[in-house]
Amino acid sequence: MSKILVTGGLGFIGSHTVVELQNEGFEVVIIDDLSNSSEAVLDGITAITGKTPIFEKLDLREKASVEAFFTKHSDVKGVIHFAASKAVGESVKEPLLYYENNISALVYILKELKKLPEANFIFSSSCTVYGQADKLPITEDAAVKQAESPYGNTKQIGEEVIQHTCNAVRSLKAIALRYFNPIGAHESANIGELPLGVPQNLVPFITQTAVGLREQLSVFGDDYPTQDGTCIRDYIHVVDLAKAHVVALKRLLEAKNKAQYETFNLGTGTGSSVLEVIKSFEKVSGEKLNYKIVDRRAGDVVAAYADTNHAKNELGWETKLTLDDAMASAWKWEKKVRGK
Ligand SMILES: NC(=O)c1ccc[n+]([C@@H]2O[C@H](COP(=O)([O-])OP(=O)(O)OC[C@H]3O[C@@H](n4cnc5c(N)ncnc54)[C@H](O)[C@@H]3O)[C@@H](O)[C@H]2O)c1
Repeated sequence: MSKILVTGGLGFIGSHTVVELQNEGFEVVIIDDLSNSSEAVLDGITAITGKTPIFEKLDLREKASVEAFFTKHSDVKGVIHFAASKAVGESVKEPLLYYENNISALVYILKELKKLPEANFIFSSSCTVYGQADKLPITEDAAVKQAESPYGNTKQIGEEVIQHTCNAVRSLKAIALRYFNPIGAHESANIGELPLGVPQNLVPFITQTAVGLREQLSVFGDDYPTQDGTCIRDYIHVVDLAKAHVVALKRLLEAKNKAQYETFNLGTGTGSSVLEVIKSFEKVSGEKLNYKIVDRRAGDVVAAYADTNHAKNELGWETKLTLDDAMASAWKWEKKVRGK
């Protein structure tokens, strides 16, 4: 039973991945500073898996704490690094906070991994590195475009930091996973997405509006060159996404990787428009959503969806759950959280 460190393991994607790791028999130790999550998530994980992961509350920006962690847990066989700040708008206002949290912390972890005889590292990257891609669907070799925000830039720099470290450190193997748009919740509704303040993403905004927490959803623009004029994204169920992390980790642990550093897109391969997501929500919930079309928002790309062949062929992984499944689970979770 290998011990795996999951940083940010109490967050949205991290908590779902901890569940899948424990279901596969891994021993999990979580690092989280609770800056965007709560300790109660441990109860949700325990309710689903019957097992409570080890939890170390610490801030990865504190180098000495990271060193002390690896001294204590010297038997860690792999690291899945989710911990980061992720609000695009905030990153524009507070760039240094983002460079410190998303880059310094990464460097401190890699410095510790460099000391180990063998290290396996999975990184949370994002389709944001592609910007508005020249060709759809987006393959892994599509050009990385100049980042639109400090947040996006931290993902590009993060990938480079890992790649360069792999070039220099033979004992380190790494995979960067470029997520498209993770949504949904565990079907049990014991864990899900719990944004602090006003949600930055479409689906929590939809469910919070439907549950009565927000008055109205704004749809930014219906005059884009798409079939219904709204922007298109590749929405992936968080449980499918979580499972991909276990597959990627096993690829490294079993030395099945083809290069020391690899990247994979994680998406469904299908683009859905904002109006299609709303329709899916209305269908599975039976609720009528209060929304209005407003002006376009600066910086939004028109369409982005993944070419999934590389993940399918190399990882043997593809999504199983649908947009409707994701919307139904997100709604079940929202109602549970609000006691409805
Ligand atoms: N959710 C998305 O749409 C999306 C898309 C692409 C990539 N990503 C990336 O995936 C990762 C996970 O995203 P998420 O949606 O689960 O975010 P999240 O905010 O729900 O989870 C991140 C967790 O990391 C913790 N954390 C942050 N800074 C920390 C620090 N310095 N020390 C210890 N813990 C810290 C937070 O408390 C939180 O629990 C992030 O790296 C994010 O950039 C997310």
